[in-house]
Amino acid sequence: MLSKVKKAVEYIKNQTDEKPLIGLILGSGLGYLADKVENSKEIKYEDIPFFPSSTVKGHEGKMVIGNLEGIPVIALKGRFHAYEGINIKKISFPIYIMKELGVKGLILTNAAGGINRTYSPGDIVANIDYINLSMKNPLIGPNYEELGPRFVPMANPVDKKWLDSIIEQASNIDIKIKKGTYAWFLGPTYETPAEIKMAEKFQADLVGMSTMPEVIAANHAGIRVVSFSACTNMAAGILPEPLNHEDVMKVTDRIKPKFENVVKIALKMF
Ligand code: 6GU
Repeated sequence: MLSKVKKAVEYIKNQTDEKPLIGLILGSGLGYLADKVENSKEIKYEDIPFFPSSTVKGHEGKMVIGNLEGIPVIALKGRFHAYEGINIKKISFPIYIMKELGVKGLILTNAAGGINRTYSPGDIVANIDYINLSMKNPLIGPNYEELGPRFVPMANPVDKKWLDSIIEQASNIDIKIKKGTYAWFLGPTYETPAEIKMAEKFQADLVGMSTMPEVIAANHAGIRVVSFSACTNMAAGILPEPLNHEDVMKVTDRIKPKFENVVKIALKMF
């Protein structure tokens, strides 16, 4: 793992002199933000040694290094999910590349189903805590002290100060960011109503199939994290009638400008 990270980093450093400060892994239709990165160097996943390749059809996987809102960033266009059959360790690989490139903060976004009955589709919810319902962990296996410690505290998985300043700044332009606990299920099936009842008893507010592996690896690597969910629909059994796919796509489209603003504020407030 360590030598693979080093080889990948060496390759990337040969492509650009830019020193990214913040990493962006954007799900939920926000991938296009990677194309707004200025003075950018784009590197295809397939060209980076040992980098996982995305199985999602029609999604070009690439790393974009440059400036967004005047801040040096590294953005991943195309994220990896455990349900694609990608080894959970490989999902964390880009995080260690970021660490070795000098990244200090990580902004994550995802689409999630709402459990909390005060949420509505279209809400943006800051993840303030996580529940690992996948029974997987990217840190299982030998530990490399150079990358992080063997036992990683997860008592403060997100950077509260950074997050609070983002929430305050967003409220100044009338964007309300709610807060909630994100439960990570493996997928690719959506949950059953009984699973959602269980997650609700566990006091989860949202469910999704991504983000937590990256959060774990970033905490291991000492990178500060904020993550945000677009609540695109309510989870199974929460509403009498589930939203159909078309409605979910509409919601995703409708909140894009708001969600993009939240990411830009997050960059500025770091
Ligand atoms: Cl209901 N579940 C999961 N796991 N992911 C989602 C979702 C639900 N809605 C959007 N993403």
